Order: sequence, then structure tokens, then C-alpha cells
Amino acid sequence: MTRAVVTGWGKCIPPAVLSNTDLEQVMDTSDEWIHTRSGIKERRVAHVETSDMAAVAGLHAIAAAGLEPEDIDMLLVCTCTPDRLIPSAAAMVQAKIGAHNAGTMDINAACTGFLYGMGTASGMIAGGLVSRVLVIGAEKLSAFLNLKERTTAVLFGDGAGAMVLEAAADDEEGILAMELGSDGRLTQLLTVTHTGTEYPDEAPPYPERTIWMEGREIFRNAVVKMAESAANVLEQAGLELEDVDLLIPHQANVRIIDATAKRMGLNTDQVFVNIADYGNTSAATIPIALTEALEAGRINAGDVLVLVAFGGGLTWAGAALRWGQRTKPVNVSDAALPPTDKTGLELLAARPRD
Ligand code: ACO
Repeated sequence: MTRAVVTGWGKCIPPAVLSNTDLEQVMDTSDEWIHTRSGIKERRVAHVETSDMAAVAGLHAIAAAGLEPEDIDMLLVCTCTPDRLIPSAAAMVQAKIGAHNAGTMDINAACTGFLYGMGTASGMIAGGLVSRVLVIGAEKLSAFLNLKERTTAVLFGDGAGAMVLEAAADDEEGILAMELGSDGRLTQLLTVTHTGTEYPDEAPPYPERTIWMEGREIFRNAVVKMAESAANVLEQAGLELEDVDLLIPHQANVRIIDATAKRMGLNTDQVFVNIADYGNTSAATIPIALTEALEAGRINAGDVLVLVAFGGGLTWAGAALRWGQRTKPVNVSDAALPPTDKTGLELLAARPRD
């Protein structure tokens, strides 16, 4: 079977910062509560749309792989916050980056979306359907935050990350095993209503168009499922816990990450965590984290990585992969978002909903 290997990586972090102390000004919360309960210090608020961030992250990943946009034959955008229902965010990104030879589609598995995208890309490559896939995780969750709903408004942020996956030349490297799981009976634990066909006559449904969740139940499920997925993919890959060099988990809450690592038996130095800077950017957390792990020199040639995620659905997923020889980008793109002089708080306050 042809294995898929990651050859390019990149991110797009929108410039406007929204700190915990900014949030103290607009809701009954505190930096202390948010940081101790979630590990978050600040997050970003996008002044552009999801496809704009996705395009920048995608161009960085394509350059890192040493490719041109025309070389991509499948473009997947993993998102639960697309610019529009039709066309897909992927088709919009295709036009923005000039990846004119690619097929395009979106994947929505909430925060697990990026790993579902990797699984889809890996399967397409193994089946010989395509050979170079750009997988992007991009979210503008600020569009679905309600400043009157403090239990969720403090947790989420905007951003994008991307990877290029290609057929591996070397049998030893690439995605070794994956697991994709879901339990649709737990739909109501995490939901955004007033966004689809259930509510055709209510316009504009701003106050209700908000992320709702049962935080404690999600917390419990997340720890169990991420630890189980990690164990399952390691077993499928014929690896032991001692073989793991780095765990890159979905960044939803540092306490969930710590509990997952503890359940798996990993030390904190074997886990990559950047939630303090960005909050939960849903499908974007894993590709942003992987890019930052490479930039920080935390990934070496031949390392075994385990990626795990969970999210709305409920969904969960795991991947075990062996990194290739190259840990530096082939080329560097100068793609960037247009500048803004607005702060995160100003961007949120400018929305018609609040
Ligand atoms: N500031 C201050 N106080 C707050 C805030 C806030 N922002 N939010 C809630 N509180 C209060 C509550 O009202 C409650 O007060 P009470 O005791 O007087 O009733 C108290 O803090 C404790 O609330 P809990 O919900 O019990 O706090 P908990 O320790 O469970 O932490 C949290 C809440 C952070 C949401 C946690 O449960 C969690 O992280 N769950 C997982 C959520 C998650 O990861 N979701 C993303 C899923 S991924 C996806 O697909 C999008």
C-alpha cells in the first residue's frame, strides 16, 4: 500500500489579539479563571474570512514542500466555519491560490476535522486516485461566539494550518495507522444551532447562532477517546508507547491534554502544547501545532508522532506517523493576510450580533 507522507506545512495566525484581560472588560470573567480552567491566555480574532486564512496557510505549506499550487491534485479544507454553504471553502481557496489542477471539497468533523482530512488524503493516495493533497484546517469561530455566553466565548479563536501530503518514496516513513471515530448519539453535547435548514425563517438569528456545549461531559469523553485512539493507532502500527517521540493533541483545554497524556503514560516534555497563545481553533489546532513544533525544533528525522483529536459529533481520531528526513521547508512563501489596525475586541464589537 502506498503510504502518505507530510512534505509541507504552514500556518496563518490572524494579527488581532484578544487577551483574557480584554474579555474581562466585556463579560463577567477573569484571566485567572480562564487560565486555570483552560490554559488559555489569549486568542486571535480574524478580520478576514476562513478561506483567506486557509489560502495563506496553504501557500506556506506548498512552498515548504517545494511545490507550486498547480502541482496539487486534491485540495481539502477541514472546517466547521466555511465562508458560505456553497461553494465550499476549498473551491474559494483554490481560486485564491491558483491550485487550478485540484479537485476540491470541505470536510466537517468539527475539531476532529483535520485528522479526518488526513485520513481522506491518505486513503486517496493509497488508492492511487491522487498523489499530492493539500489539507487545510481553517476556522473563524469568532463568528459564532456570543459575548453573553461566557462558558464558550472564552475558549475559542481563529486561525489556519495546512499540510501537503504526498506518496511516500520510503516504505518506513509516513502515516502508519489511523483511526476515525464518531458517536452521533452525543450530538447535543456540542452544537451550533440556527445555522442550517432547521431554521429557515429566522433572519438574522444572531444571538442564538452560538456554540453551546456541555463542558464537563465533553471533557470526560475527550480524555477517554483521545487516549484510546492513541493506543489503538500505536497497536495498529506495531509500536509501543516508548517509541513515541511527540504527542500533538487537539488544543481544546490544557487540562484535557494533561489528563490524556497522564492516561497514556507520557511525560509533559513528550507533548506539544500551544493553547495559551491561540485558544481552541478547532480543525486548525493540529496543523498549527505541527508547524510550530517543527519551527521549534521539536521534531527530528525519523521521529514517531501521534496526533489525536476530538470534537463535535462527538467525533474523535488518532494518527501514528513516522516523520521523514526533512524538517526544514524547501522554500518559504511570503503569503500574508492584509494588515488591520483593529484590536480583537474592536473586531468582535463591530459585529452586528452583540
Ligand atoms: N469566567 C468565570 N466563571 C465562569 C466562566 C468564565 N468564563 N465560565 C463558567 N464559569 C463558572 C460557571 O458558571 C460555574 O459557576 P458556578 O459553580 O457558580 O455554577 C463555574 O465557573 C465552574 O464551571 P464548570 O463548567 O464546572 O467549569 P469546569 O471546570 O468544568 O471548566 C470548561 C469549564 C473549561 C468549559 C471545561 O469543562 C472544558 O474545557 N470542557 C471541554 C470543552 C471543550 O473542549 N470543548 C471543545 C470541544 S472541541 C469542538 O469540536 C469545538
